[in-house]
Amino acid sequence: MGVPLVDLQLQYQGIKDEVMSAFEEALASMHLALGPNCDAFEQEFSEFCAVPHTIGVASGTDALQLLLHAHGIGPGDEVITSSFTFIATIEAIVLLGATPVLADIEPESFCLDPAEVAERITPRTRAIMPVHLYGHPADMDAFAEIIGGSDIKLLEDAAQAHGALYRGRPAGGLGDGAAFSFYLSKNLAAYGEAGAITVCDEAIDDIIRHLRVHGSRERYVHRMIGYNSRIDELQAAVLRIKLRRLADWNEARRRHAGRYNEQLAGLSDLRVPIEKDYAQSVYHVYTIRSPRRDEIAAALAAEGIANAIHYRIPCHLQEALSDLGMGPGSLPETEKASDEVLSLPMYPELTNDQIDQVCEVVAKALA
Ligand SMILES: Cc1ncc(COP(=O)(O)O)c(C=O)c1O
Repeated sequence: MGVPLVDLQLQYQGIKDEVMSAFEEALASMHLALGPNCDAFEQEFSEFCAVPHTIGVASGTDALQLLLHAHGIGPGDEVITSSFTFIATIEAIVLLGATPVLADIEPESFCLDPAEVAERITPRTRAIMPVHLYGHPADMDAFAEIIGGSDIKLLEDAAQAHGALYRGRPAGGLGDGAAFSFYLSKNLAAYGEAGAITVCDEAIDDIIRHLRVHGSRERYVHRMIGYNSRIDELQAAVLRIKLRRLADWNEARRRHAGRYNEQLAGLSDLRVPIEKDYAQSVYHVYTIRSPRRDEIAAALAAEGIANAIHYRIPCHLQEALSDLGMGPGSLPETEKASDEVLSLPMYPELTNDQIDQVCEVVAKALA
């Protein structure tokens, strides 16, 4: 029997009745966007992240763009971030006319390396935006130290890190604002597109609430040019139901990671993911690294075990970002990681037998 990378069907079976009755209620009211479920979700997600404000938006990509926009970032400004991420992190910067400045990662956590960031600060730097990659938080205090008393903003791409802890504090409240994605396969996922921004500053919260509805909070009165980025009620209803289970689901992911780590320990040519002493990961994905990655992937595929490479081509080597002029060799740790990483099946409902089956195939491939 094969093993999928994620099993959304299985999770749905456990919450189906609740989801259906929430959908019926929302549809009966015909209050379909920015309604009571949205308000309640924003409050509940704020509590989960220990922040004063959450603003629901249409996707994680929008969340990043609105967060940067609300901080006034635009042409002439530089935002330092990682190249080892999903392209949306960088897209949001480029779409605002600002310049992404890509720095290398720490090879152990796969997150942005503070030392690399420090070297790239210029008078034009307006923000540092680390990505909590794979569910592991970046070293936020180190970035805060680099920023010191300057007005550079510290923003989080928390799209993969709902519930992750940095020195005991949840992702989302670790800087001047954070963007979350609720894409289908995320730890907290909608049944369509959705995202959210968390912020502490009330003035920024107000700007983002304008931006998500065409620069308006009062019908047909437009304070600024904005976006169409409402979160819809059906998505907010699903997210509320899932949020109640998220801590348990994240705990299950952490247990699975522990079992993988135990079983894969000691294999030559393989490194299991680590947690830095400041971090509690939520294992959005469970990613090993090996110079023999392609052999492992082929062996898994032959047994029907799904696997994936996050990310095969780092952003600075994507054709879409060729204008940055960063050729091969410009970010060595990022490029090495791209050649070696492999994500194994990871979702809360995964069984011990399935994990053991995956590990057996990996061990055999490396024997
Ligand atoms: C790190 C990262 N940033 C941003 C995004 C964009 O989120 P979305 O797909 O909801 O637009 C994603 C997910 O897809 C992501 O993984």
